Amino acid sequence: MSEIRNLINITDLSLEEIDHLIDVANDIVANPTVYQDICNHKKLATLFFEPSTRTRLSFEAAMLELGGSVLGFSAASSSSAAKGESVSDTIQTVGCYADIIAMRHPKEGAPIVASQRTTVPIINGGDGGHFHPTQTLTDLLTIKRKKGRLDNMTVGLCGDLKFGRTVHSLIEAMMRYENVKFVLISPQELQVPDYVKESLNENGAEWVEMESLEEAMPQLDILYMTRIQKERFFNEEDYVRLKDTYILDLEKLTNAKEDLTILHPLPRVNEISVEVDNDPRACYFFQALCGKHIRMALILFLLGLK
Ligand code: CP
Repeated sequence: MSEIRNLINITDLSLEEIDHLIDVANDIVANPTVYQDICNHKKLATLFFEPSTRTRLSFEAAMLELGGSVLGFSAASSSSAAKGESVSDTIQTVGCYADIIAMRHPKEGAPIVASQRTTVPIINGGDGGHFHPTQTLTDLLTIKRKKGRLDNMTVGLCGDLKFGRTVHSLIEAMMRYENVKFVLISPQELQVPDYVKESLNENGAEWVEMESLEEAMPQLDILYMTRIQKERFFNEEDYVRLKDTYILDLEKLTNAKEDLTILHPLPRVNEISVEVDNDPRACYFFQALCGKHIRMALILFLLGLK
């Protein structure tokens, strides 16, 4: 029997495997009919203990477009977690009903616990302020499609870099490519955690912290905006003080490169003005589409079908 593969952290995948997933995602777009029945009789469970639009629905759309079926819940309140059931018991049960599970949970490490309680592949769809590896696969596919490469670039990450799990996973992934420089733009209170900085240093990555988005802008090839996440703050006062620190508008883009790629994992609140949406450099809705393609490739990979 082949080993069960999970995706808990982006580092669970080698660079060769990430390349493979990107190739499959592109082939799915080029040859959709080849893939339309490939997951016939396979079931994906989406267990979302935290709200989601893109991650859950793109996983479900991905499985449906592969000819499979989906089941699951979109809130802890509509599952037996509301009656006090543990994550372990929920996963052990759902593992009897589905061939693969995508889950999101507010507690960091919950997907690891889940992976120890079932023999079906577990995909981490976001665990607290920790990691969000399928968002990172989405980001990598978007960057590859827009830039044609994943190396030799300067990546600016802006906003809540402390609690932003998408940021932590993207840094973990991109530091493995040649000559990627990171510009970490945040207020002091929301800087990336020490473990991310240690990881950057251990990998010999070049990085700098800045507070001013305007100052950082001219050197960036990628600008990854993030939301200040109200749900991660311990008090309302801090959130209100920090929530509007960065608002990207057309004025702030005047010093940006012509071929800048602007990304955002979404949802946004007001950190990107809607006037930016029509700028050709704004790629965040294209990014949401890429999320479906890469999740199709990931489902096939973890089920051993491609
Ligand atoms: N990017 C992302 O994780 O979006 P959702 O919270 O809508 O899933």
